[in-house]
Amino acid sequence: MKREYILAIESSCDETSVSIVENGKKDIATVVLSQIDIHKKFGGVVPEVASRSHVENITIVIEECLEKSELTMDQIDAIAVTYGPGLIGSLFIGLQAAKTLSFLYDKPLIPVHHIAGHIYANNLEKEMEFPLIALVVSGGHTDLIYMKNHYEFEKIGGTLDDAVGEAYDKVARVMDIGYPGGPLVDKLAKQGEDSYKLPIPLDDDSFDFSFSGLKSAVINLVHNESQRGNEIVKEDLANTFQNRVVEVLTKKTIAAAKKYNVNNLVLAGGVAANSGLREELALQANKNNINLIIPSFKYCTDNATMIGAAGYFAYKKGIRASLNLNSKPTDSIK
Ligand code: KG4
Ligand code: ZN
Repeated sequence: MKREYILAIESSCDETSVSIVENGKKDIATVVLSQIDIHKKFGGVVPEVASRSHVENITIVIEECLEKSELTMDQIDAIAVTYGPGLIGSLFIGLQAAKTLSFLYDKPLIPVHHIAGHIYANNLEKEMEFPLIALVVSGGHTDLIYMKNHYEFEKIGGTLDDAVGEAYDKVARVMDIGYPGGPLVDKLAKQGEDSYKLPIPLDDDSFDFSFSGLKSAVINLVHNESQRGNEIVKEDLANTFQNRVVEVLTKKTIAAAKKYNVNNLVLAGGVAANSGLREELALQANKNNINLIIPSFKYCTDNATMIGAAGYFAYKKGIRASLNLNSKPTDSIK
């Protein structure tokens, strides 16, 4: 098989990342520059600060990635870039860099939807088989997506309010355990017990999700206990919250696989790093004889490797963008 190399750029939020991926499945070189330490003191990502940091770092990260890959631009077949969704200023920087490379070296420009990237992180573990259902859980998304074949996305359910990662981050904030919240709640959950009374979110037959009620229940509980002068057992609250989230995500994902008669599941997005979710989904998939792929930790949170993997399949499908490509901060997956 011919070796084809995609140089990919991801800058939709607070990671400046560049990667070179071979045939949509092999990570040749990846550089991820995280801005977590910069945003930590603000308790969340500050969009303007993120854009400035991308500007300062993008050329350095491109050069470092090329050097690491031991390839030259002549050997690159196409440039893939995240065009949306994400922070408009952050997206713009990656897009501008990708367009410049595409123009300068006369390479096709491949537009990649950020969520397509998260899904294709799975192809770096194992070649994805179709049809499949993808559970996408990140800071901005909670989606169930049906894929009949490569690069065909059909959204069959999504969140009606908060995304699951967002709910994790808000729960972490009210419990005052630090930033970024998701991994810290996950860590605490492992040390606690399911001892609080919290509602199961949108426990119905639909493939939609809702996390704002559960999040508000946690916030109210913390405030009420503090007004009464009672201490919260943070480990137990984290454990109870995580159990409710994992239960509904797993239940609806398995139900979707059954309804759509598919035998393949993939897990995607930053919350795919969650230990409770990885464990329970693996258990239920196994029980139901469904094949499950879960990305390794380094490909769960934002990175350009996943954009390079998705970009390859978009490239093979003939998807191209002109140099007029604009960032789309709220674009839904197609
Ligand atoms: O995919 P991602 O890096 O960025 C978006 O595209 O949104 O996801 C970031 C989200 C954050 O909300 C973060 O708290 C959450 O993923 N996250 C986790 C874990 N690791 C990251 N949530 C729960 N458990 C984790 N272990
Ligand atoms: Zn993401």
